[in-house]
Amino acid sequence: MLGNFVYYNPTKLYFGDEAQKNLTAALAPFGPKVLLTYGGGSIKTNGVYDDVIKALQEAGKEVVELPGVMPNPTLAKLEEGCALAKAQNVDFILAVGGGSTIDYAKGVAASAWYDGDAWQNFWIEKNEPAADQRVLPVGAVLTMAGTGSEMNGGSVITNTEQKLKIGKVFGSRLMPKFAILNPKYTFSLPVTQMVAGIYDIMSHIMEQYFSGDDDSTSNYVAEGLMRSLIVSSRAAVKNPQDYEARSNIMWTATWALNTFIGKGKTQDWMVHMIGQAIGAYTNATHGLTLSGVSPAYYRFIMKFGQARFARFAQVVWDIPAEGKDEETLAKAGIDALEAWIKEIGAVANISVLGVTEDMLEGITAATVLGGGYKLMTKADVLTVLKNAL
Ligand code: NZQ
Ligand code: ZN
Repeated sequence: MLGNFVYYNPTKLYFGDEAQKNLTAALAPFGPKVLLTYGGGSIKTNGVYDDVIKALQEAGKEVVELPGVMPNPTLAKLEEGCALAKAQNVDFILAVGGGSTIDYAKGVAASAWYDGDAWQNFWIEKNEPAADQRVLPVGAVLTMAGTGSEMNGGSVITNTEQKLKIGKVFGSRLMPKFAILNPKYTFSLPVTQMVAGIYDIMSHIMEQYFSGDDDSTSNYVAEGLMRSLIVSSRAAVKNPQDYEARSNIMWTATWALNTFIGKGKTQDWMVHMIGQAIGAYTNATHGLTLSGVSPAYYRFIMKFGQARFARFAQVVWDIPAEGKDEETLAKAGIDALEAWIKEIGAVANISVLGVTEDMLEGITAATVLGGGYKLMTKADVLTVLKNAL
């Protein structure tokens, strides 16, 4: 571990098929008025809403509801939530849903009592709330595995007017105080959403893995998580009600992006940067924007970090090294990734997401981050996008 770091994660996790039974006790330390936020209604048809309301009642909470958080939550919706949280003077925000709802809750928690332009301050300038600014505590009941939002500070908001989808990673004050992780709550997900979540997890791991050439414990942990995810994804695609597979996927998702596997090493988040720019233009499902661009991106940068790609082929995909030079092995790993994307039913190009030639120039406005095997230029991003069409 060549890097120096601090690791602290304050989120308490309750995991398992009865995890919701802990919700009443988890809510107890917080104030009496709870803003209950959720998405478009899936929690009302799968029984999760009833479980949550029961726990809130048992905890003696007064509930203010804020439904309608859309996938890829917008700035306009954020402003609506802030106004409600402030007007009702809520003490706590309980997010019930996937990454969109949990990200949204953190955004409202940070912005409701911020006196100014929250978009500019938090998402553009990436400031933290001042120490004396009121920040609302957040809790999460997760219904979709993928983003890791249940145990991190990420809050991705889309500004539809500016065609910008930006993630702000808040510090520990905004991380969920607790998260309820019941894998059975994910059973009602449409298969395409399950698959999008699975690819999101894979991408989070790869984006921390494909960087640097030092020997780091983080890389070995990442390889284990990827191997587990591949096995479980195949089982879950065959039988979405496979509890063992769905529980492994949920736990892998949490560990893929709670910053643990990125500690002590450089990282390359370009697939997410490009994916988010695609999302801003198309509103496509997050995980599919990543699978659509990954094969083209990794083929483009492969020669700059060939040894890691060869290791990926061998360790993650069990491709024998015998008789292959490093380049052939490295290529075989990316081919295996692409074959798996197709096998599980994710998308392997971006035109199917609605990306057209005329959007490409705009999408190259994607933020370019360092840390990867190659520092991308705008022209490089354009080449990757053309190859991914
Ligand atoms: O709104 P409802 O009706 O609940 O339906 C949702 C939504 O349509 C549905 N769904 C969720 N759980 C369900 C269910 N349907 C049936 N049964 C269930 N149990 O699934 C759809 C997608 O939900 P969403 O929350 O949008 O998905 P996801 O968890 O993939 O979150 C995506 C958002 O998270 C951001 C993405 O950019 C995107 O905005 N991300 C957040 C990150 C973070 N906090 O660190 C990192 C990620 O890389 C990502 O960028
Ligand atoms: Zn993601």
